[in-house]
Amino acid sequence: MKKIVVLTGAGISAESGLKTFRDSDGLWEGYNIQDVATPEAWRRNPDLVQDFYNQRRKSVLEANPNAAHYALARLEEKYHVTIITQNIDDLHERGGSSNVVHLHGIITRSQSSRNSNLTYPINGWEIKMGEKCEMGSQLRAHVVWFGEAVPMIEKAARICTEADIFILVGSSLAVYPAAGLVDYVPNGAPKYIIDPKIPYLGDDSSFIKIEEKATMGVSRIVEKLLR
Ligand code: APR
Repeated sequence: MKKIVVLTGAGISAESGLKTFRDSDGLWEGYNIQDVATPEAWRRNPDLVQDFYNQRRKSVLEANPNAAHYALARLEEKYHVTIITQNIDDLHERGGSSNVVHLHGIITRSQSSRNSNLTYPINGWEIKMGEKCEMGSQLRAHVVWFGEAVPMIEKAARICTEADIFILVGSSLAVYPAAGLVDYVPNGAPKYIIDPKIPYLGDDSSFIKIEEKATMGVSRIVEKLLR
């Protein structure tokens, strides 16, 4: 089976009602990243950070996968598909994709604030202050903050080196190391990019550009690939 690797960013969840990061003048739901998505923010004001991610989780649980998520899942009928996502929502899983690598973690699980390998399911939408891991440290959202390691990056890079087809959806390629994954795709593999505002791709002119929203652009590419 041919291997398709899909790298997605916040743009694929935009039409599910979840905000992107750089379309809202640098604020994330009205907050500065430094105040809610860094280890320093957690040390400075853990309650604010915990509440911020509880609110994000509530939005994720209320959101639904859109036509782009469902279309990518249908690719599994004919291809070996790996979704590498920068998103912390679970919309790919709920859309039916069975092989998803979360580079920046997933908000629907909690983790020990002392050991990121200790992760737990969350009942409902919030993690309360005082909820502890088995080592006795406070639970937090299982997401990668700025300044933290991206443990899945080596695995993701290896997956990209084996792509027969590469599809990039809804990412501004503004954040590394995720953005660097594009360079691991073999030269001969067709590369598609779907984004209403195609981001800067450096001197890489090999991308097939589809300047559309994900629900339209991804559905079109998937129909073509399943023909
Ligand atoms: N369909 C497809 N793409 C869209 C849509 C849409 N409906 N709406 C917006 N986009 C595109 C934007 O044009 C932009 O290129 O999605 C991209 C969103 O870019 P960002 O907001 O930078 O999101 P992303 O690339 O995922 O950010 C990467 O940065 O803040 C960190 O950890 C966070 O994972 C995130 C990372």
